[in-house]
Amino acid sequence: MSDARQPLTVHDLTRRKAQGERIVALTCYDALFARLLDESGVDVLLVGDSVNQVLAGAETTLSATLEQMIYHTKSVRRGSERALVICDMPFLTYQISREEAIKNCGRVLAETGCHGVKLEGGRPIAETVRALVAVGIPVMGHLGFTPQSVHALGGYRVQGRDKQAAERLKDDAKALEEAGAFAVVLELVPAPLASQITASLAIPTIGIGAGPACDGQVLVLHDLLGLNERFSAKFVKRYATLAEDVREAVKLYAAEEREVRYLVEEHSFPK
Ligand code: KIV
Repeated sequence: MSDARQPLTVHDLTRRKAQGERIVALTCYDALFARLLDESGVDVLLVGDSVNQVLAGAETTLSATLEQMIYHTKSVRRGSERALVICDMPFLTYQISREEAIKNCGRVLAETGCHGVKLEGGRPIAETVRALVAVGIPVMGHLGFTPQSVHALGGYRVQGRDKQAAERLKDDAKALEEAGAFAVVLELVPAPLASQITASLAIPTIGIGAGPACDGQVLVLHDLLGLNERFSAKFVKRYATLAEDVREAVKLYAAEEREVRYLVEEHSFPK
């Protein structure tokens, strides 16, 4: 069993897999939620570029910027003590050249204090992953549905359904492991395929819509809390209905202010 108070390192995740201990991951974009998740024992806080959709209201993750990710990752690091904090690298910050990838990922690591970065893609970016790992930057991979390729993939859909695509995914996962990635996110992958990939790797797989056999799971926090009502998917279980709670609380405040002017009495300063 791992020590519940010790800050986690990327090596703890591999150890967890070897010992059959599951990995609990959630997206996180700010210090306030980082504190709550850290106190609740979440192992990995992923500062996903989904922040661009969930908080900034964009249609896709494609317009997320390095500055935006640095801002949110710094905030998450300020709020967390134990969890491993991973920053999602935005579109075109690591694909253009290995030099740019090292410069941008290194900047993220140095400026935010996060523990690693996440990149989307398999064999085509394996040499970049190797170069990053060689300079001391821990890398988490991301395979299956990769949101930065949403247009190329023809929309938000399950990947690896036919034999050829399934073989490609298995090969991508191996390429990432061989290049030194410390974990791989599998998004929207059929459960049996995710199970085969998980069994073939020594590094952990973290699933999102990839079935129960992955070594851990990640969900978008705002989906789990029922704050992001506009998004629903088969793999999202809502554990709370906070959007409803927010509306109720704000309506109550508005009604009290309009009808009884509650601020005037007990919540004001007589002198
Ligand atoms: O951006 C994100 O939040 C992600 C997770 C959904 C894996 O990449």
